[in-house]
Amino acid sequence: MAFRFTCIGLLALSLYIAAVEGNCCSVNESRLWSRNVQGLLPSAAEWLKPVLGYKFYLPEINLKGSMGYLGSSIRLRQFTSDLLSGSRPLRVGVVGGSISVGEGSSRRHVTDWFSVFSNWLGSIAKANVTFVNGAVAGTPSSYMAMCLNVHLPRDMDLVFLEYVWNDLYQDRLINNQVVMNMERLIRRILNFPRRPAVVLMQVAIVGDHMETAPFYRTSEDLEGALAAFYDASYLSMRNALYPLAVMHPTAGYSWNETFINHHPGDAGHKIMADMAAYMIQQAAISIVLNPISYPELSVHSLPLAAPMYPGNEIPPGVVCSSGRSFTEHVLSNLGWEWRNEGTPWKPKWGFVTYTPGSKLTLRVNTLRPAIDPTARIPVLIHYLSSYDKMGTALLTCSAGCVCDPKEVDATSERRVSQVFFAQIKASQSETCDVTVTLLQKTSSGGYHFKVSGVVVSASDVIDSIFFVEEIYAKRNESKALLNEGAR
Ligand SMILES: *[C@@H]1O[C@H](CO)[C@@H](O)[C@H](O)[C@H]1NC(C)=O
Ligand SMILES: *[C@@H]1O[C@H](CO)[C@@H](O)[C@H](O)[C@H]1NC(C)=O
Ligand SMILES: *[C@@H]1O[C@H](CO)[C@@H](O)[C@H](O)[C@H]1NC(C)=O
Ligand SMILES: *[C@@H]1O[C@H](CO)[C@@H](O)[C@H](O)[C@H]1NC(C)=O
Repeated sequence: MAFRFTCIGLLALSLYIAAVEGNCCSVNESRLWSRNVQGLLPSAAEWLKPVLGYKFYLPEINLKGSMGYLGSSIRLRQFTSDLLSGSRPLRVGVVGGSISVGEGSSRRHVTDWFSVFSNWLGSIAKANVTFVNGAVAGTPSSYMAMCLNVHLPRDMDLVFLEYVWNDLYQDRLINNQVVMNMERLIRRILNFPRRPAVVLMQVAIVGDHMETAPFYRTSEDLEGALAAFYDASYLSMRNALYPLAVMHPTAGYSWNETFINHHPGDAGHKIMADMAAYMIQQAAISIVLNPISYPELSVHSLPLAAPMYPGNEIPPGVVCSSGRSFTEHVLSNLGWEWRNEGTPWKPKWGFVTYTPGSKLTLRVNTLRPAIDPTARIPVLIHYLSSYDKMGTALLTCSAGCVCDPKEVDATSERRVSQVFFAQIKASQSETCDVTVTLLQKTSSGGYHFKVSGVVVSASDVIDSIFFVEEIYAKRNESKALLNEGAR
């Protein structure tokens, strides 16, 4: 059986906090156990045997609690059936933030939750399964709702979404922006040709110093409505761990034995994998008890219903380009070189210049027929912000659109290199040309500038949490809230 692991992470918006040295959270092997399901015919027990071999760290009561919503699980049952019969090759993906990138685990690609889960799933599959990790550290779901095409291929059969930390929450029920962003992302995934099963992997909100957030202070319950609406599933690490870490503190499962900071350590990652594995087991058991029926298959082929929040569609024409697809937007290029400044393993492609006066013109479509034609559309240019001899560029608009010119200084005060986004608001036009001109002025003494992608927003409002500075502000806010609720 071929077992591949693909990593798509073209945009390194690395915002995550460096993992603390040492390992708080090793998985105590003597606590591992596996399930024994009684009362089945020998043939059914035999069929389930490989699936039930998974070794759990989290006790079963808590695993049951973590199954936030399974509902009819039509797509998940289909996936599990194909997995165990080997009827076709399958693809499993994840999008999310730093936790799904593997932050907090002691060995990326080994002890992070998606690797633990994929290693197990690959080992029991009768079909060829390919795993794609499209998570990008530091990004909220609003980013992925726009840029999914860059990070996940369309031929997926099962997709996990891990956004509850990065999205934080909005304290309202009506038109909740966080839930609306998640809905757009879920809809994009459900529109993939194979209509994949979608699973919300909802992590527990824990502070960097093991502060406990109040149980209700998370978007996961509101997002439960999306799970029910779309027959997606959601797994709740909060439900799993609150009883063990907060209500009745239990050795092996306290925050400081499962979380390294706000990222889970190895034991926390293992618990996330446990929840996903238990969910697959539940689907397998449900197939034994109630085989997939004809009405179930026909529900699967129905078209996607109108959104839960009326009008919350992804407008056609939303563009997010980086890597090769970005080059297709280039209308003219004077003095910029398309170059990989990363490695073949971790490519960092972009247009690079060191010469003031260099001009790169990108053509984008900012026409949004569904909204007020006078509304301006945010266009975000990805650029490298770094500390070593970076230059300043000017963004201007021409051809069919206008915008206020914007100067972008790529010099970072911190000793880090990150992809940042510079925003202009352009008037609507099918042919909107945005020109990036390297200026003579520089705050660092250097003239290095790199442009690596472009996003054209789906609407006239772009979520403020999209912006790096504001993510920091939100983190502060969430810290204050965590302290307020700390025990
Ligand atoms: C591992 O778990 C066992 C209980 O299964 C416990 O007795 C032991 O102390 C634990 N070891 C550590 C290092 O926590
Ligand atoms: C799995 O993939 C490998 C190579 O990608 C191929 O040789 C093999 O036939 C495939 N097996 C199945 C069952 O499709
Ligand atoms: C973990 O936290 C508990 C209180 O929640 C405390 O009693 C224990 O000493 C801590 N353990 C470590 C290793 O810090
Ligand atoms: C976040 O808090 C730190 C100190 O706790 C402060 O230095 C920083 O300015 C704050 N950032 C924002 C955006 O408020």
